[in-house]
Amino acid sequence: MIKDLWYKNAVVYCLHVGTFMDSNGDGIGDFEGLMRRLDYLAGLGVTTLWLMPFQKSPRKDDGYDISDYYAVDECFGHLGDFVDFTHQAKQRGIRLLIDLVVNHTSDQHKWFQEARSDPKSRYRDFYLWSDKKPKDAEKGMVFPGVQKSTWTRDKVAGAYYFHRFYDFQPDLNTQNPAVQDEIRKIMGFWLELGVDGFRMDAMPFVIQGKGIEEQHVEHYTMLREFREFLQWRRGDAIILAEANVMPKLNLSYFGEDGDRLEMMFNFWVNQRTFYALATGDARPLARALDQTRDRPETAQWAHFLRNHDELDLGRLTDDQREKVFEALGPDKDMQLYDRGIRRRLAPMLKGDRRRLECAYSLMFTLPGTPVLRYGDELGMGDDLSLPERNCARTPMQWSTEPHAGFTRADKPVLPVIDDGPYGFRQVNAADQRRDPSSMLNWTERLIRMRKEVPELGWGEFEVIDVKNPGVLVMHYEWRNNSVVTVHNLLDENLEITLPFPQKLTSLFDTAHSEPDKRHRHHIILEPYGYRWYRAGGLGYILDRRSY
Ligand code: GLC
Ligand code: CA
Repeated sequence: MIKDLWYKNAVVYCLHVGTFMDSNGDGIGDFEGLMRRLDYLAGLGVTTLWLMPFQKSPRKDDGYDISDYYAVDECFGHLGDFVDFTHQAKQRGIRLLIDLVVNHTSDQHKWFQEARSDPKSRYRDFYLWSDKKPKDAEKGMVFPGVQKSTWTRDKVAGAYYFHRFYDFQPDLNTQNPAVQDEIRKIMGFWLELGVDGFRMDAMPFVIQGKGIEEQHVEHYTMLREFREFLQWRRGDAIILAEANVMPKLNLSYFGEDGDRLEMMFNFWVNQRTFYALATGDARPLARALDQTRDRPETAQWAHFLRNHDELDLGRLTDDQREKVFEALGPDKDMQLYDRGIRRRLAPMLKGDRRRLECAYSLMFTLPGTPVLRYGDELGMGDDLSLPERNCARTPMQWSTEPHAGFTRADKPVLPVIDDGPYGFRQVNAADQRRDPSSMLNWTERLIRMRKEVPELGWGEFEVIDVKNPGVLVMHYEWRNNSVVTVHNLLDENLEITLPFPQKLTSLFDTAHSEPDKRHRHHIILEPYGYRWYRAGGLGYILDRRSY
């Protein structure tokens, strides 16, 4: 068993180049700007960046509509800037994942342009066509309420084409071997330019049979083929898949023997984490952790709170979802696609620092690798006047300068949040850097601690029942080390009893705990209180058997 898989103890930070830092004053963030902020990111302690799509694109879906896989969109810079950036990131020991969006292209991609205008083109079969409108054309939309169908008639082609997402994103016929060749070529290209892997967009749809005559079943062997290609070209490169699937399918994605995906986002746990934050009931979360426990030893979960999309609650029961809506996004305007909440984390938790810390500490102690979203380290807010998911994609708030120091232009690509409690005069990196008790400095300490507790990413865990559904206690074991984490999801002081023979040494403060004569700890928790303990002393014991 390999003992130094880098992604098992990584801390991932995701950002969009376009809203991070603008260096040339055109209002759009760029690679040069991102490069100037690398020391900020290194200082925060994140080990890996995940960049959202920056390839050439009409950007009608924030870049998830790519028109050229081999070019950096001009507004962000060019390939030279990208290579400079990866080099600078490497010098700081930071790894890089990029989005790989190959379920569909933009309708402006030259493959689609040729395919629609010439039925004999070799690109015709890169997409899925139907002469007549298929019966299920009004089914299976990913963006209900905004997207009207999954088959749209193209005048130029004189036929309907399939699109799982918006109509300007025609689906690639991913079962076509020629398309699979192209996908490998794209991966190979970016690997040569220094990326460490891919966040693979819409994975279940990529591997599904598509088209009118096809069964919509998953072709899992594709996952193994992707992996083999990746590891042949670059041994430690990985795929982190966006796959919001039922737990019973997890092993099909990871591979029973760990021969498919290295990483997946744990959407199942994410939704129940929010249920726990909303209701103070951690039982469904504890069950979800158990349901997603099984994974090959080399595979890893990515845990997150908010991301660039809506908080998808589609896999909760109706009753659970209603409760989360009620507590965290009660207005219709805060909800999206009949299944989710589009707000940022801080406003959802009413800017309550105790709740924010509890939420982040909880996410960081789930079994897997944490993924942070840019600006969450400051407690950034949202702008609900922006359409759909854009409300949570506003520019990074650097300082109290105009447009939060993000750009010198009069008009940034998306408006900077400039009033209310989340406006940039209240929430920005420069002020928080100076304040030892800021969210930013707290997050930096959290990240440092997470890296020093590899048990969380590698270990075996159990949830310890403390007879209070409002408290989640987890115990991790790895290489003879033992770690206990405690989270109080309730707005009340309470006492819990923990069975443990050793002393529990608190990692964040001096609230250590000694067992009583019956090997029990009596721990008093403040509202939304959290603890990370090492059982025994701080000494780090290595499992001798492994050497
Ligand atoms: C994924 C992305 C989302 C995008 C969609 C279409 O779900 O996370 O932002 O709109 O794919 O590419
Ligand atoms: Ca710019």
